[in-house]
Order: sequence, then structure tokens, then C-alpha cells
Amino acid sequence: IFSSQKLFHPRKLVRDYEQEGLKDQIVLKFSHVVAENTPKGLAAKKFADLVYNKSNGKIRVEVFPNGMLYSDIEEINALKENKVQIIAPSTSKLGSVSEKWGVLDLPFAFPSYQAVQEGLNGKIGQELLQSLKSSDLKGIAYWTNGFKQFTSNKGPIRKPEDIKGQTFRIMQSKVLTAQFKQLGAHPIQQSFDITFQSLDNKKVDGEENTLSNIYSKKFYNLQKHLTISNHGYLGYVVLMDKTFWNKQSDYTKRILIEAMDEVTKWNQQQARKMNEEQLALIKKNSSINIHVLMDSEKKQWIKKLDPLYDKLAPTIGYDLVDEMKKLRK
Ligand code: LMR
Repeated sequence: IFSSQKLFHPRKLVRDYEQEGLKDQIVLKFSHVVAENTPKGLAAKKFADLVYNKSNGKIRVEVFPNGMLYSDIEEINALKENKVQIIAPSTSKLGSVSEKWGVLDLPFAFPSYQAVQEGLNGKIGQELLQSLKSSDLKGIAYWTNGFKQFTSNKGPIRKPEDIKGQTFRIMQSKVLTAQFKQLGAHPIQQSFDITFQSLDNKKVDGEENTLSNIYSKKFYNLQKHLTISNHGYLGYVVLMDKTFWNKQSDYTKRILIEAMDEVTKWNQQQARKMNEEQLALIKKNSSINIHVLMDSEKKQWIKKLDPLYDKLAPTIGYDLVDEMKKLRK
């Protein structure tokens, strides 16, 4: 099931080792929670293939998708304990490392994919990577997925009031908790892998996610309403353990960085395309009721949620929140 295994030719490997004087193949486990057919899933596979090819088989990345090794709640610890060597959690889940990451969860922060890149390549992205240092984590890259939409069984959700009283599954994030409370809803933090079950058992009325996750995990089959709101950003930070990273040879570091740079560029175009294509597939494969927020409605959501910027600035950090305010203007 691992794409890199397709390229695994034992005889060629032996030859490569002899040439480079390297006896053992380095194997890195890459664990993530989403399906393979997603922006993160495909990027992880492509990274594995590139690393294998660039190193002539000396470095092999094994990708474990769908939370088959660790859930999103467990994966940061698994990385620190060297049970896996690469993870790519959604940035929303980094609050346990530093509250600063909450800045990326602020509602309607990024109006476009381009604005996301500006933010991540600029001061915000830099400061967030810095915040990992005290936890001995190394942020290698930012990968993107896209913008979140609301799905629910109680709907349709058009105006902020429509969500009042509803129970929503959310990621492990204080900012997202505050967002739903501001709307008078009841957020419940749950790991990604139990979201399907939770929707299926009607433990929650709805959830927020990208179209890619809604499609690949079939949430749309369990929900009556989908609102295209693009109200929040969902992206990833690719992480390694700093101690593990520092132990690697310059050769290994160079291969990993080169491959990561290539994949990161590819992921930016790919993510947008996948979310668009998968919306078309949701429409084709289901009778879910889809509402696209009108501009007038969007203004009401922004008005209702904007107070969160000042409310959460003491937690996230005033400088980061100010930077985000500048960016969204
Ligand atoms: C979620 O928990 O909904 C997402 O963070 C899953 C993911 O990694 O895209």
C-alpha cells in the first residue's frame, strides 16, 4: 500500500549502498490522519517517492494514512518518542505546543489561497515556526488544504443565528471553541478519526471541514446540509523531532529538504484543484442541500465573529493578531 514500495528494487539498492558506502537504508515513518486522496495524503505520497528517487533508494519514507498508527491527539507525542519521524498535523492542533497557532484559526482571516501564502511566508509563518523551538520540534514546511465549510443535519445554515443551539464536532483548538460559542453553538473537541462515527450516531449535529475531508471521509453521506462559507482556514505544518533531525547526515537533510520544497510547491496548486473537484463529486454523488453564502450573509457572519480578534488577542499574542488584521484588510 505504500507508494514508495513500488520503487523498491532490492538489487538496485545494494548497488546504491555500495556506491555511497552506506550499509543501512534509512526508513522514516510518516503518520497522518486523512485519506490518501486528499491534499495532505497525496503530498505525503509524493514526498515519499521523491525522497526515494533522489536518494537512489537509500532513504525510504513509509506513509501511514487514515490515522492507522496514531490519531491526531496522539501523533505529536509519537513523534517526540521517535515512534514516527514525520507528521503533518493541521495547524489548529498545535495549540498544545503554543497558543500562538490559534492565529490561523481566526474566522475569515484569509480571503484567498494567495493571502494564506502571504501570511505563512511572512511574519506570521516565521513566528509560528519559532514557537516550536522550545518544544524541540522542527517545522519543515507548511502544506495547505483549504477553507472550511459547515455541514449539519439541522439547517440550512445561512445566517449566524441558524447555528445557535447546534452541537458541532471541532478540532482541538481554543479559537475554534470560542468561534462556536460566539455563535451560541455547542462545540465538542473530537479527534478526526471518530468524526464519522459521531455524525453517524447523531452525537453531534454537524462539523466544519474542507470539501476534501468532507468528500474523502464521506461526511456528506451523513449530513443534510452543506454551507459553502469558507469561514476558516485548514492547513498543515510538517513536523520532525529536532533531536532526530540534528542526528541526520547533511546528505539526508539535503535530500529531505529538496524533496519537501518540491512537494510544497506542488501541494499549493493541487489543494485548490482537489477541493474544487471534490465539491463537484459531492454534488454528483449525493442529494445534500448546498447553500453558498451570499455576500450580504457573509457580512453578517463577519460582524458576529469579528469581536473574537480582540477577545483572543491576549491568548494568541497581540502582535500576531495585529499582523493578521493587517493581512485581511
Ligand atoms: C480535522 O481534524 O478535521 C482535520 O484536521 C483533519 C486533517 O488533518 O485534515
